[in-house]
Amino acid sequence: MGQILIEGLEKTFNSTRVLHGLDLHIKEGEFVTLLGPSGCGKTTTLRCVAGLETPTSGRISIGPQKVVDTARAASVPAHKRRVGMVFQSYAIWPHMSALSNVTFPLKRHKQGTRAEQKAAAERALDAVGMSAYANRYPHELSGGQQQRIALARGLVAAGEVMLYDEPLSNLDAKLRVKMRDEVRRLHNEFEHTSIYVTHDQEEAFAISDRVVIMNGGRIEQAGTPREIFSAPSSRYVADFIGYENILEIDQVSPDGTSGSAGELQFTGLDGAQKGDAIAFRSGVLRTGPAADAAVVFEGTPTRHAYIGDETMLHLVTASGTDIVARIPVDQEVPVQPQTFNVARRDIVLLRA
Ligand SMILES: Nc1ncnc2c1ncn2[C@@H]1O[C@H](COP(=O)(O)OP(=O)(O)O)[C@@H](O)[C@H]1O
Ligand SMILES: [Mg+2]
Repeated sequence: MGQILIEGLEKTFNSTRVLHGLDLHIKEGEFVTLLGPSGCGKTTTLRCVAGLETPTSGRISIGPQKVVDTARAASVPAHKRRVGMVFQSYAIWPHMSALSNVTFPLKRHKQGTRAEQKAAAERALDAVGMSAYANRYPHELSGGQQQRIALARGLVAAGEVMLYDEPLSNLDAKLRVKMRDEVRRLHNEFEHTSIYVTHDQEEAFAISDRVVIMNGGRIEQAGTPREIFSAPSSRYVADFIGYENILEIDQVSPDGTSGSAGELQFTGLDGAQKGDAIAFRSGVLRTGPAADAAVVFEGTPTRHAYIGDETMLHLVTASGTDIVARIPVDQEVPVQPQTFNVARRDIVLLRA
């Protein structure tokens, strides 16, 4: 019942188009994250689903209900869409207790009897571990606790659909990790269909069934975290999800299997063309030559930085190409030109 269907979604603000015909089908019970840099249209997409923004054109259905269809000038008002929404700014009322904040959306739209409203709010407060704080006011709560109140308020407003707009961005790193597990647990417990928005790749991958990478109001790639991580479809995606090394191919054999990207020699690729790029992550570089190497180059370590149990090495080739490598902290790498390699399984070929 709770599937979300977005078709041909376009949005123009003051003659600038910010969404270019988005198509997205989110299955019932799925947790899908919109991931992309600031300004790529994540919030606008979410607001169109919530009914806080009217699309310039397109259709959106939530479950069996068509909530907006610009061709028929039809739109269901936001409060009748029964979606819960949680924002980055907690947007809870300072003059209301935690319980009143959570009950508020139900009271405002006269959903249920007073007793039912109270029971729903208490269940939501319990789900986010805030029952003991029901009578506290926001100024008596920490940032993390305020965000839990905002979560609870979203839960009571939600029928089957929850929308999250960077809800954890204001929390410190440790709490953010804890709360993202919490968000996913609540999604499972309440059997919601959820759309989550973030610009944080790790958060997106950790929490989602499927990630949708957006670029300038368009979908660049959609897939499971594993699919996107192991097979980014473009340079944009590879760069955004942290492939530190992306190098353009400038020479290639007639059969497209071998060639070079600057001073990096490659073999064993399939149908590579000039202008394509090879990409690999810093963690896959190995020192010396190797029988299964698909990329080989000479590099000189220039700088290093300790990052916990690994060292981040900055390598430079003779003509000045920078490569980033991560190696175990106990591995000695002399500061002199030497061979590095990458195995075939760790290389992604990105089409021009
Ligand atoms: N109400 C508005 N009026 C004018 N431009 C807007 C409005 N809301 C968003 N935009 C513009 O639309 C683009 C997408 O914004 P947004 O959806 O907020 O991106 P994101 O959430 O990915 O950072 C941005 O260029 C932003 O400046
Ligand atoms: Mg936003």
